Amino acid sequence: MRAIILVGGEGRRLRPLTDTRPKPMMPLVDRPFVAHQLDLLRRHGIRDVIFSCGYRPDALRDHFGDGAAFGMRLRYVVDPQPLGTAGAVANAIDLLDDDPVLVLNGDILTDLDLTSMITRHRDLGAHGTIALTPVEDPSAFGLVRLRPGDAVEEFVEKPRGDQLRPGEPFRINAGTYVLERELIEMIPRGVACSIEREIFPAAAEAGHLFGYPSGSYWRDIGTPASYLAASHDVLAGRIETDAPADGAYVGPSVRLGRRAQVDELSCLGAAAAVGYGARIETSVVGSRALVGEGACLSGAIVGARVSIGAGASIEEGAVIGDGASIGAGVRIDGRAPVPTGARVE
Ligand code: GTP
Repeated sequence: MRAIILVGGEGRRLRPLTDTRPKPMMPLVDRPFVAHQLDLLRRHGIRDVIFSCGYRPDALRDHFGDGAAFGMRLRYVVDPQPLGTAGAVANAIDLLDDDPVLVLNGDILTDLDLTSMITRHRDLGAHGTIALTPVEDPSAFGLVRLRPGDAVEEFVEKPRGDQLRPGEPFRINAGTYVLERELIEMIPRGVACSIEREIFPAAAEAGHLFGYPSGSYWRDIGTPASYLAASHDVLAGRIETDAPADGAYVGPSVRLGRRAQVDELSCLGAAAAVGYGARIETSVVGSRALVGEGACLSGAIVGARVSIGAGASIEEGAVIGDGASIGAGVRIDGRAPVPTGARVE
């Protein structure tokens, strides 16, 4: 079976970190985010993957190449203009055969049981099957309602309280689909089109679309807060991954000064340096970043090659773009991100 990973979005909610890399290349603990998705696919025997790219495709191609080094066959298609989530699937159709294809949003961290989802899709004779994940509050998401037997009844985008039925399960689209060629052929070619808003409602209306409710770990890494939480979850072993899950991750060639403290939910990228007595808690520090003596970081995301001066305080929710420079003693809070390359004195 083949998979398509959608990796062409601009990742605006993760700016400025996505100014310099596409969202799937955001480091998550020990490797680019999307490599965790390749691990999941490989665990389920899927080694033939098409990246459907748009924004900054070269970063992926340069890193993963043809996939041989990762034991996979990787190919790339690039949107001529942003095609949306459906257009990006249709853009790969010439690389598909008549078998169903697995489609993953390139910003979902999950250990979903793909094998069992595909089996269920086949047993149902569905044209499309959408993995669903439970949420406590569906008001910020698209609620997916199922009929008995799991055919999709309807999608309710950002439901208000009065649209909810008493006792109904709150399930949302988990960004993982199994699609038959018939369904992909419904997508108009070469124009922007959303799979969630345009294609799935039509397929549900025709009775061909099914849901696959799952209680597996699931997180969309598309915002700074959820990206940081995903990093904590990997380090705490809350999700099955191939990453080391035994506390803090310290990358290759990191230099740690005396009395520096790094807690078990923090990650230090390759060749970062942490000065004497600095304290790093629940944070992600990018490769080649420099953390000065006595600086404190808590719940922060620090880009690559950032320099943080002695005694600076980087607080909960802070996001610092690549190459920025933070002066000694400066306090940065979570109210506004520090742009790429900025100097804050
Ligand atoms: P934001 O700008 O922060 O909303 O991020 P996004 O557009 O990258 O993500 P969104 O959650 O809207 O998209 C879900 C997935 O589809 C992500 O993995 C995106 O990379 C991908 N995607 C979204 N739009 C496109 C597109 O026009 N083309 C391609 N190839 N992929 C897309």
